[in-house]
Amino acid sequence: MCGIVGYVGRQNATPILLEGLHRLAYRGYDSSGIALAKAGKLSVHKAKGKVRALESSLPKRISGTTGIAHTRWATHGEPSDRNAHPHVDPAGRIAVVHNGIVENASGLRRVLEADGAEFESDTDTEVLAHMIARSGAPKLEDAVRDVLQKVEGAYGIAVVSADEPDTIVVARNGSPVVLGVGEHEMFVASDASALVRHTSQVIYLDDGEMAVVARNGYQTSTLDAVPTDKTPTTVQSQGDAHDRGDYAHFMRKEIAEQPEAVTRMLQGRLDQRFMSAHFGGLNLEPRALLDISRVKILGCGSAFISGSNGAQIIEQLARIPTSAEPASEFRYRNPVIERDTLYIAVSQSGETLDTMMAVQEIKRKGGRVLGVINVVGSTIARLCDGGVYLHAGPEIAVVSTKTFTSTLVAFALLGLYLGRIRDLSPSAGRRLIDGLQKLPGQIEEILAGEAHIKAVAEKYANSRDMFFIGRALGFPVALEGALKLKEVSYIHAEAYPASELKHGPLALICPETPTVAILPRDDLFEKNVSSVEEVRARKGPLIAITHDGELPVVVDDRIDVPRTEPELDPILMGIPLQLLAYHSAVALNRDVDQPRNLAKSVTVE
Ligand code: G6P
Repeated sequence: MCGIVGYVGRQNATPILLEGLHRLAYRGYDSSGIALAKAGKLSVHKAKGKVRALESSLPKRISGTTGIAHTRWATHGEPSDRNAHPHVDPAGRIAVVHNGIVENASGLRRVLEADGAEFESDTDTEVLAHMIARSGAPKLEDAVRDVLQKVEGAYGIAVVSADEPDTIVVARNGSPVVLGVGEHEMFVASDASALVRHTSQVIYLDDGEMAVVARNGYQTSTLDAVPTDKTPTTVQSQGDAHDRGDYAHFMRKEIAEQPEAVTRMLQGRLDQRFMSAHFGGLNLEPRALLDISRVKILGCGSAFISGSNGAQIIEQLARIPTSAEPASEFRYRNPVIERDTLYIAVSQSGETLDTMMAVQEIKRKGGRVLGVINVVGSTIARLCDGGVYLHAGPEIAVVSTKTFTSTLVAFALLGLYLGRIRDLSPSAGRRLIDGLQKLPGQIEEILAGEAHIKAVAEKYANSRDMFFIGRALGFPVALEGALKLKEVSYIHAEAYPASELKHGPLALICPETPTVAILPRDDLFEKNVSSVEEVRARKGPLIAITHDGELPVVVDDRIDVPRTEPELDPILMGIPLQLLAYHSAVALNRDVDQPRNLAKSVTVE
């Protein structure tokens, strides 16, 4: 989703800002722009499409030591040069970049229009630029503060002014803003990943906080002008996470990183003595966990799907009634919050607005929330009472792969832990620990069979529609397989519980519509085989994701994964589906890492 980057220092800001934009591109965007403040004037350039389009539209000689830049993901107004950020006031002396949404923008715009203002764009952000320019406050900081008092909604903003060309003013309310501290230079970003190449010293602004950033330092305060005291924290260098290396796409790289990601997820978390799991950050004693009578898991997109798997795992292993719900639905239905329910929020980025609002709603009503989150120190992680970090490393491709797999492993560990506090036997614990330890090697095995999966993907890549079916633990696998395929290849893909096929979708099965069947050799194998027979009888092409050994039904293609414990089957069965989606998208020449219309982290409603 939208990204902000800013620089104030001694160097030419342009290459630093452009490099920051490239680093933020993974979040998903449709246009970009840059504003440089120099010698009492601003130069602003914007372009629809990729950052490369902006780069090639820039004049040869463009320099300045203070600037802000932005990648935009359209909310108000179509993607276009005109609607790209930065937005300026009519005199071109104030430039604003903005993430989030100003909810009362149309009302504010009408007031300005009644006073003669004319707007260049359809955006809510331009309203901010006009208001800041009209504020009458002598200093940029005060003008921004005045305006933000009148603004409703969630935002992260950065503002520069031709009258104060050595300053950037930033503010945060619901959408992240990070400052980076350098030697006689400061950086600004909406995501620390845009800064880590320049500095490891960062300051995360809190909601309702703003900062005046200059070459030699920064001052933070609340929006009500009360000074705040922030000291920098050190962020881990993210190594080559932003470098594709020899891989054609980040998605492919991140699929390949899964054995290591799962190893990191398991590191220090297997309790061989009590056949259980260790967690350092749950902040809940076993006694408190014994009092829990229900678990509710919330997340959006792939995070919700991983939660649906987690719900089944926790219910099976710990015998606690558990359900999963999209956070985006939950937050709007005035949910009943129970004191003996444990709420779990799942989010790779830790910034998804719907998930964050669900957590706030639960906490407001006195509930307890744990986070299953990848990005350390992210907003949701900080809001939760405790939780589990995935340590999967930065995920750059818009679609989630390694963090999805790591989340399933996190739920297997949580299920094991909650189960062993209750009635799960030590031998069952032992069985799961053995299974978990084998996963990284088994994922390697699946990845080694990529050539076959690629051939299957290419065979079906021209299909218009595809079905994915699975039962019980196989159903979230089907859901994620279908989501992945539609996200990256744009093939229409639908997931159904195998048992539901005959209640409707069977009407669509025909020789042109392939079905991917999740077919583990578990207790439900025979039932799943019957569903596959139903498809076969309608001449639908069949691809089985299964284990070795003869199948009692004819399928067109099969992809075998190593055998593991039945509770862990989804972790392995999801991997070929990622490769299936990836190779279908490559065969169709899609923009794999940044699919159309999608954003990595959705920070708007
Ligand atoms: C967006 C992404 C999805 C992701 C979802 C939740 O919609 O495109 O891939 O699953 O957000 O993101 P989160 O960071 O909260 O896991």
